[in-house]
Amino acid sequence: MVPATDNPGNLPELPSPETLRQWDRDHLWHPFEPHDPLDPRQPPLFVAGEGCWLIDSEGNRLLDGVSSLWCNLHGHRVPRIDQAVRDQLARLAHATLLGAANVPAVQLARKLVEVAPRGLQRVFFSDDGATAVEAALKIAFQYQQQRPDPKPGKNRYLALNEAYHGDTLGAVAVGDIPRFHRQFGPLLFPVHRACQPFCYRCPLGKARPACNLACADEAVGLIERHADTLAAVIVEPVVQGAAGMVVAPEGWLGSVARACKRHDVLLIADEVATGFGRTGRLFACEHEGVTPDLLCLAKGITGGYLPLAATLATDQVFQAFCGPASAGRAFYHGHTYSGNPLGAAAALASLEILLEPGYLEAVEKKGRLLEDALAPLLDHPRVGEIRRKGLMLGVELVANRQTREPLPPARRTGRAVCDHARGLGVLLRPLGDVVVLMPPLAIQSGEIGHLADAVIRSVHQILPAGEIG
Ligand SMILES: Cc1ncc(COP(=O)(O)O)c(C=O)c1O
Repeated sequence: MVPATDNPGNLPELPSPETLRQWDRDHLWHPFEPHDPLDPRQPPLFVAGEGCWLIDSEGNRLLDGVSSLWCNLHGHRVPRIDQAVRDQLARLAHATLLGAANVPAVQLARKLVEVAPRGLQRVFFSDDGATAVEAALKIAFQYQQQRPDPKPGKNRYLALNEAYHGDTLGAVAVGDIPRFHRQFGPLLFPVHRACQPFCYRCPLGKARPACNLACADEAVGLIERHADTLAAVIVEPVVQGAAGMVVAPEGWLGSVARACKRHDVLLIADEVATGFGRTGRLFACEHEGVTPDLLCLAKGITGGYLPLAATLATDQVFQAFCGPASAGRAFYHGHTYSGNPLGAAAALASLEILLEPGYLEAVEKKGRLLEDALAPLLDHPRVGEIRRKGLMLGVELVANRQTREPLPPARRTGRAVCDHARGLGVLLRPLGDVVVLMPPLAIQSGEIGHLADAVIRSVHQILPAGEIG
């Protein structure tokens, strides 16, 4: 049952929690989850949300420490977004964008162009991060064939090691998280790989600042070498989220962007995770003054309300798709719910909140507060690093802090820490042994304290410092 306080509109009675849990066990297939019939743990069953909190069927309140998988910005049940969706619902829930438009989609396209890095002029809507990436990959490929000076040989991509761009096959091909992607290898197209800009585990065995950004030089060298066959470079700018909140050293993105320009290779910025204020700027590309040729947006675009995504393109890219039907230049790609009016209405309301004076500036302050609150963990012998950009933070747990040796993956220590935190009223989801903290941007200081406290206590509980030899 929904607790009485969370049922303000006399909503219809729900089936009992026991029934719902049984139906979950019998019928739901949970994404990214092992389904082990012997595992006695029960996933929470959420019935309501309130601000930064989720409320489960037992009435337990859990602080949403990962923003409902990195998408919630302003909390749950935000009056202004609720109203915008309701208002739109009173007009139109959905109509196709194929050969037609709808009011919120048009308004949102214009707004996105206004706020995105200058030069991005066109908005192609889809539904999720993976579809935004899929569209970008195909646009880049087709662009090279249809540009005024066609370059059909430019039909490959360069992506990063440990990249994550979603779970459709094109996105998986440019991705590189072995645990998620390895078994699909035979289905994927080949991709050039550059090393991760990851100072804590530098793949080149170097250290800042003496390295002089050798990782950027490596990527630039690859772009130079493969320019004739590269349609595009795809990156997660500034933070590689799913790789474990890997924050790139300053200057890396700018170097790669300049190399793309110099060598006539498109740059695809996948800001599905970093977009909409997460890193303390509206878009992570802004940290280095970069305008990509294609920008992928999803997750936070609706404030975490509805599935909506967008791929923004420069006019130069878009022009290659223009011409009469007989020229066959159209982008034959789309989805039934592209530019859904409810999602677009939520996105417009969410953007209004995000762009209020002081809102974005507060993100960095809150991030710093969270990092400071977690500082006691730096003394723990199995905390390797706490890394952060804005309100994206990862606590990397290791077997040995001196050698940085990882914990045995089979022990699923990160998962155990997050499970323990749930008992302390915080919902988290790890990436391997990196405990991810990515709360809604609207989180308040008291909630930041609660979140940090639960993480500190959970790490100490699962990895008692005294046991370290
Ligand atoms: C950088 C990045 N790109 C794409 C995706 C895929 O987004 P979605 O799960 O909405 O398909 C994610 C999801 O975490 C992501 O972090």
